[in-house]
Amino acid sequence: MTRVVLVTGAAHGIGAATARAFAAEGDDVLVTDVDIRAAKEVAGGITAAGGRATAHRLDVGSDTSWQVLSDEVRAEHRPPGVIVNNAYRNTVARADELPASDWEATLNVTLGGVYRSVRTFHDTLTAARGAVVNVASVHALLAWPAHPAYAAAKGGVVALTRQLSFDYAPEVRVNAVLPGSIDTRVWDTGTSADRALAERQATLGRFGRPDEIASVVLFLAGDAASYITGVAIPVDGGQTTTVAT
Ligand SMILES: NC(=O)c1ccc[n+]([C@@H]2O[C@H](COP(=O)([O-])OP(=O)(O)OC[C@H]3O[C@@H](n4cnc5c(N)ncnc54)[C@H](O)[C@@H]3O)[C@@H](O)[C@H]2O)c1
Repeated sequence: MTRVVLVTGAAHGIGAATARAFAAEGDDVLVTDVDIRAAKEVAGGITAAGGRATAHRLDVGSDTSWQVLSDEVRAEHRPPGVIVNNAYRNTVARADELPASDWEATLNVTLGGVYRSVRTFHDTLTAARGAVVNVASVHALLAWPAHPAYAAAKGGVVALTRQLSFDYAPEVRVNAVLPGSIDTRVWDTGTSADRALAERQATLGRFGRPDEIASVVLFLAGDAASYITGVAIPVDGGQTTTVAT
């Protein structure tokens, strides 16, 4: 049966790779993002390849935006049975230098988006006996310099994953992936020393690719993971299993 899969932050990077991966399985994908122009390109690429996808503007930090999307997809009889919460926000600064507005916005988008997704679509997830997969981060486990709001939000995503898996069982499974250093535009601003350090920190000695996160998201959303719920799986090339030497 065709699943309707909602992916947030699907216009770029890991979200775009995840949208393409679900579409390649024959799923009907709601490609959502604040960057609607790029979301349309992703959805257009999927349909050009013979898949099913539509682009929708969704700011995961806005209640109104979730309501508008909900009205739209329910009217189209395409409510999601799977949701991948991937959108995020981050400001790199130590706590004493981080404006309160950035702290609040990071929590609101990165953690609050997960809450809003389930508040909006708990009924359709339940009806589909569906799944939620949250894209957290290795920052939920370890500290890197100057990521206080991001680390708090991602740690919160892991705790919320566990909580939602409990509250919505047995109909809805809720799991998380914890990416390590994945080669997306996020790293474009990094120095070559930053990149070299990230490569060294991974046991596998390299960056991950967005499709290497997407494949684990697909697994967690699917029947092959039917007895897995409430967990957070690092997909980090071994970064959190050792001390880089
Ligand atoms: N790239 C990495 O090294 C890495 C490592 C660990 C975790 N992650 C996580 O992976 C996920 C994807 O990151 P990425 O590297 O693909 O980043 P990216 O910047 O390539 O993609 C993020 C997407 O989120 C969208 N977005 C931003 N704010 C939004 C909002 N309020 N509502 C909806 N969409 C919004 C952006 O427009 C963009 O399309 C994030 O949750 C990130 O924390 C990435």
